[in-house]
Amino acid sequence: MEVIKVADYEALSKKVCEIFINRLQTIENPVFGLATGSTPKGLYKCLVETYESGQISFANAKFFNLDEYIGLDKSHPSSYTYYLMKKLYEHIHLTPDQIYLPNGNATDLQEECARYEQCIRDCGHIDLQILGVGINGHIGFNEPGTPFNSRTDVVNLTESTMRVNSRFFKSIDDIPHRAITMGIGTIMESKEIIMLVSGKHKADTLQRMIHGNVTEDFPASILQKHPNVTVIADEEAFHD
Ligand code: F6R
Repeated sequence: MEVIKVADYEALSKKVCEIFINRLQTIENPVFGLATGSTPKGLYKCLVETYESGQISFANAKFFNLDEYIGLDKSHPSSYTYYLMKKLYEHIHLTPDQIYLPNGNATDLQEECARYEQCIRDCGHIDLQILGVGINGHIGFNEPGTPFNSRTDVVNLTESTMRVNSRFFKSIDDIPHRAITMGIGTIMESKEIIMLVSGKHKADTLQRMIHGNVTEDFPASILQKHPNVTVIADEEAFHD
């Protein structure tokens, strides 16, 4: 696990954007896995700006969303589909066959999870997966206690995750209690992972992710076992 410490959130976004663009330009048909939430916003902004300046093309790339709430329409402003459409996909001229989304409104959710796994396999697995981490160590929506070999599945959100994510909803009562998420086993099959960590409130999480025991009680700890992980964290995310 390589850990890169940067000064602040702006530097974090710039650093991950540089690496992302390098993979876009050096891998023949790159497959990216993308997280949502607050932390990767700067990355998506940087990618859009670089695209608009004419320096890069996404024509050969494919994108997989990491997770999605169950029961939200994709036009719902708090859905993860909407987030990535608005923050990235709509700005970089993709065709629909370049974008893969778990459908949280599928009638048969188990079949949907199997379909999503198959799509990832058919694309030859993810070349670069971007991750953020929950305070409780979750990656995707894989909450503490999730088996390390889990595959894409329907999961229940914990109270703490619902509370933290309620900031994206009008009220905590509006937040779905379930989601589809790539499994930990699925994420670990990515050829490369970049984990982004920003802010004081993640300092304990970062410490435990890098130096703590590898345990299913803290899902992000499994990244210590992946052969190609880079953690990019800003100064605030480190204990003094
Ligand atoms: C989002 C996701 C989550 C977030 C995590 C951190 O697609 O899968 O695991 O990465 O909750 O969220 P932020 O970045 O908002 O602190």
